[in-house]
Amino acid sequence: MPTTPRKILVTSALPYANGPIHLGHLVEYIQTDIWVRFQKMQGNQCIYVCADDAHGTPIMLRAQQEGIAPEALIERIGQEHRADFAGFGIGFDNYYSTHSPENQSFAGLIYQRLREAGHISTRTITQAFDPVKNMFLPDRFIRGECPRCAAKDQYGDSCEVCGATYSPTDLKNPVSALSGATPVEKESEHYFFKLSDFEPMLRNWTRGGALQPEIANKLDEWFETGLQDWDISRDAPYFGFEIPDAPGKYFYVWLDAPIGYMASFKNLCDRENHSFDDYWERDSEAELYHFIGKDIVYFHSLFWPAMLEGAGFRKPTAIFAHGFLTINGQKMSKSRGTFIKARTYLDHLDPEYLRYYFASRISNRVEDIDLQFDDFVQRVNADLVGKVVNIASRCAGFITKRFNGRLSAYCSEGGLYEVFSGAGKNIGELYEAREYSRAVREIMALADRANQYIDEKQPWVIAKQPERETELQNVCSVGINLFRVLMIYLKPILPEMAAKVEAFLDIPELAWKDLHTPLTGHPINTFIPLMTRVEKDKIDAMLASEKPAEPVAASAIQTQKSAERAGALASDPVNATINFEDFAKIDLRIARIVSAEHVEGAEKLLKLTLDLGGETRTVFAGIKSAYVPENLAGRLTVMAANLAPRKMKFGVSEGMVLAAGPGGKDIFLLSPDEGAQPGMRVK
Ligand code: 2FM
Ligand code: ZN
Repeated sequence: MPTTPRKILVTSALPYANGPIHLGHLVEYIQTDIWVRFQKMQGNQCIYVCADDAHGTPIMLRAQQEGIAPEALIERIGQEHRADFAGFGIGFDNYYSTHSPENQSFAGLIYQRLREAGHISTRTITQAFDPVKNMFLPDRFIRGECPRCAAKDQYGDSCEVCGATYSPTDLKNPVSALSGATPVEKESEHYFFKLSDFEPMLRNWTRGGALQPEIANKLDEWFETGLQDWDISRDAPYFGFEIPDAPGKYFYVWLDAPIGYMASFKNLCDRENHSFDDYWERDSEAELYHFIGKDIVYFHSLFWPAMLEGAGFRKPTAIFAHGFLTINGQKMSKSRGTFIKARTYLDHLDPEYLRYYFASRISNRVEDIDLQFDDFVQRVNADLVGKVVNIASRCAGFITKRFNGRLSAYCSEGGLYEVFSGAGKNIGELYEAREYSRAVREIMALADRANQYIDEKQPWVIAKQPERETELQNVCSVGINLFRVLMIYLKPILPEMAAKVEAFLDIPELAWKDLHTPLTGHPINTFIPLMTRVEKDKIDAMLASEKPAEPVAASAIQTQKSAERAGALASDPVNATINFEDFAKIDLRIARIVSAEHVEGAEKLLKLTLDLGGETRTVFAGIKSAYVPENLAGRLTVMAANLAPRKMKFGVSEGMVLAAGPGGKDIFLLSPDEGAQPGMRVK
């Protein structure tokens, strides 16, 4: 029975306009895009909007660094983002920017309504201020010593060494990361959104089905801790919207970012025939979903519904949070080459491989997703090429050559076909519930079944017996029809391959409603290659192109040779090659030489005490021929910080310093450099 199409508005989080899209981002855009394409195939009116998140201090500073206006920076990055998303087949109905007149107008309106309803307060706060750059410093732009463990060069909000969190005013010897100046404390008036005014509504909304259970539980913890007022203003200089009644004060980027969802939709409404109010008025019957990462749940499940409620708009129907992407079981890492930009991927591999792989791993839980390249190759090749495409390629040739491209006038395997089309209900429910990995499993089980049918019927044997002509056409037509059903199911995941299939089968767009009508008596076109196998060397090439250049490796090897060590190397280290994987494992850090001493009885060694940014290490280095120990204190060097401690004749060496040069008197350490700080990673 036909039901009324649902009206659905969907968003993905707005990426910041100061960096490239990478595979970590793509989990979310692919997850959302699959859901939207599924809804559209169901005949629902589903609109997918997004935008660049263009405001804030990092974007302002990056533009300054590049010597361009922030508007020019966000314009350029916006173009790159659009091209990257298009490359992955992300089908936004509108992609906009938060730096837009619509967004300014909605931000102003929401703020004004909140203020009039008494939900905005002001108070004076004290913050770190950079007297050289003449600006207040966000926590991340202050560095100093951890108040708990004294580790040097830590961020203003947390210590990477001991994990302590604190306020920037607690840091010892703080410096501005922008100018190196010592920050001063300065007062200014700030505007706050009184989140606690909305606690009863939020408690209710949280338990009303809008959140995944694990997120609802997290919110309960936050309610326990107490909802704090939210600081929504920033002082000039800031790249953002000036607060209407507060000259020199700007909306904090996170205030106008979610409003960007509305603004992007409004921009679309003004171009196309949609009613903005139908989707955003308080009693709207349209559905509104935000797909987001687990790190921004607080903004979307507390601030955002409260802002909407306070300003008289509808609240989201649901928030769908996902986990992070890991690659080969580890966090994405620049040094390992696994911080893979969308563009780099597109330069080497077919985007539909990744869409399929992610789909095969995505569930509706807030779990991290691991991209294992071996598994990636295996799944794409075995499932898509080996199973799905194989069905069509085994049948199409006979239809073309022997039957002039025409399928049988009836479906000779009604029962089997019904098993396939009947699976659509369950598969549809799995898509709706964002259980893509389970949907993929169901679809692949059907693909196995189709291949089994062809194996049993053996059309290549029938083809040799002229009296079985009709049977040959029937079997191959069944194969093509089963393939078509599978492609209806896979279309949300593989839109490009689905388009090729539509051309090959010479049919209008594959749609869910056509499941129950097999193609009969229908002429198809000659088979075209639909997808090629993933080649492992393309993945290797992609990873290699994301790996940083390797000049340090040469000096590492050189120094190994000159170092006096307890165990001999198995082979001449100068000639032995290591692969990049091995090299990327080395944790290279800047270290300050605290002291250097002669080692009793050692011909070439000096004993170095190194400061690694709060941590002290002892290293025996074979550099005695080139240095007088007294001259070394205070100098910087690069050390391999994760080398397993090594017992030497003279003591335990906890790492290795890297120096370069022909040896003898000419071995070079780094000279002190203003930019280098002990503990800093060498990239
Ligand atoms: O975390 C981020 O990348 C933000 N730019 C997401 C904003 S989502 C929405 F609220 F705009
Ligand atoms: Zn610490």
